[in-house]
Amino acid sequence: MKKIALLTSGGDAPGMNAAIRAIVKTCLHHKITPYGIYDGYQGMIEGRGKDLKYRDVDNVIQLGGTILGSARSAAFMESSGRERAIAFLKREEIDGLIVIGGDGTFTGATVLNQEMKIPVMGIPGTIDNDIYGTDFTIGFDTALNTVIDAVDKIRDTASSHHRVFFVEVMGRDAGFIALYAAIAGGAESVLIPEEKTDIKNLAHTIRHGYKGRRSTIILVAEGDDEGHALDILGKVKPLLPEYDLRHSVLGHIQRGGSPSVQDRILATRLGNYAVELLRQGLSGLAVGVNGTTLVSCPMVDAIKENASPNLAYLELLQVLQTK
Ligand code: F6P
Repeated sequence: MKKIALLTSGGDAPGMNAAIRAIVKTCLHHKITPYGIYDGYQGMIEGRGKDLKYRDVDNVIQLGGTILGSARSAAFMESSGRERAIAFLKREEIDGLIVIGGDGTFTGATVLNQEMKIPVMGIPGTIDNDIYGTDFTIGFDTALNTVIDAVDKIRDTASSHHRVFFVEVMGRDAGFIALYAAIAGGAESVLIPEEKTDIKNLAHTIRHGYKGRRSTIILVAEGDDEGHALDILGKVKPLLPEYDLRHSVLGHIQRGGSPSVQDRILATRLGNYAVELLRQGLSGLAVGVNGTTLVSCPMVDAIKENASPNLAYLELLQVLQTK
């Protein structure tokens, strides 16, 4: 391997820069040229990238976002777009490709691997934590800390006014953020896509389950089957007319900010590991962690199914809220 290209794609996640830094430094350590492609697959189609040097990754470990930029490329779904991307990789004499992102990012790499036979490695980077084959994805821990900071603040005002708050967090297909934040933030309840939401039961629990509390916080994953936080508030309101209900959508602040220690370490380990696996002649793998052990699985398996949170956490939450 003489030249390894890398890109970030899909929703950015805090810690992506730490992964980029680890890939670049590991490549340079082995006298491999790291080549950064800008704005994900869109930049690949448009032929935008450059050789990366040590100084390009100086002081980036603490930065949120991605210094390479990201995109969700519709053009890459078309074979004409991919032909241009492949021509670019050939022109630049790229021997291997590392992609950092979620499901869609891995799907793109799998297609390239099949159509061009280029060795590829995938690093899970998404705040949603919904990638099969790893316990944790880069960005999840930082996003959770951001959510918890917000939930703690909402608790202050909710308690002052005896209010019920529906706090919407990201996670269109998975309830990891909502569930973990519910546990860590001491929320009264959580609504996630993995569990059917029962509005009547929810209203009943708010009225009778949390009696005497100064505030109630319900974490809502954006992908919940009953809709967004505001929709759910609207459905509960007629059943709880005397309650003071509010909602808050945390939105994209969850994606930004300086990565946590956990994310910096995870990203550094995975970035280094992806390069080492490529150097061993392996390809088509998604790297990850199982406990503290580095693992890998076929990328095609990683995209076949979504990871789901451990529902024992839901039971735990219920136990903690039972009077
Ligand atoms: O995939 C990560 C994610 O943050 C999801 O949780 C969210 O639904 C989505 O990206 C938002 O995407 P965009 O920034 O493109 O609107």
